[in-house]
Amino acid sequence: MRVDVVSIFGEYLAPLSLSLIGRARAQGLLDVRVHDLREHAHDRHRTVDDTPYGGGAGLLMKPEPWGEALDAVLAAPPAGDDGRGPVLLVPSPVGEVFSQAAAVELSAEPWLVFACGRYEGIDARVVEHYRARGVRVREVSLGDYVLNGGEVAVLVVVEAVARLLPGVVGNAASLTEESHAAEHDGLLEHPAYTKPASWRGLDVPAVLAGGDHGAVARWRREQALRRTARRRPDLLAHLDPARCTAADLRVLAEEGFAPDGASGFGPAPGAVAH
Ligand code: ADE
Repeated sequence: MRVDVVSIFGEYLAPLSLSLIGRARAQGLLDVRVHDLREHAHDRHRTVDDTPYGGGAGLLMKPEPWGEALDAVLAAPPAGDDGRGPVLLVPSPVGEVFSQAAAVELSAEPWLVFACGRYEGIDARVVEHYRARGVRVREVSLGDYVLNGGEVAVLVVVEAVARLLPGVVGNAASLTEESHAAEHDGLLEHPAYTKPASWRGLDVPAVLAGGDHGAVARWRREQALRRTARRRPDLLAHLDPARCTAADLRVLAEEGFAPDGASGFGPAPGAVAH
């Protein structure tokens, strides 16, 4: 996968040389190229920002350097580009909230381009222009809070996407058994333990050391359901009742959830929330 990142703070992307992502780059699984937006600002001060029309606090990024920078990136597709071009990702607090499902979709793309805004963001015509040109643009938010710029979001999205590429994570099975994985019904993962069996008076649940794989699987499923019900009940709205066993339904009922008549679970009538 090729990843181009346009930013005024390329140093912010240095962690993409570390750990599994760094190794994936060294192995040629991931080709990350960072471009300096200021190379496309041509006045004496290499200005990339200006005051907003209509007034208001803060500065916006000007469209001209962005247009020039993105045109240059788009003009140099990776070898083997299928002609669809990249997905252009614009981190922004007004974007769709990034999710594991989005990471899975993006991991199937050969080419991602990130445009990192700073200040109060980028002149809105930049996204409008590239959409009109047929570029697939996705504005993505990490969550309901405001960052100083898009670079941290790039680190998050690239890590979440790149670890799904074949060969990046050693044990591929771990990708389907973790929190938010579709194969795991989008549930939170069960609690996990390693040796020693007893630590500071706390024992590992006996079932996990008992050698009964069926019992372990049932215990883990129950824990995943209870954890999700207590911590992230919103995720149960996407849990398909058709994928639930009678035991699952019993656990969810104990937690106060029942099929909601649509495609998921909601609070059972009369249930007392935990
Ligand atoms: N830039 C500023 N705030 C952001 C957020 N919440 N997510 C992604 N990019 C951002």
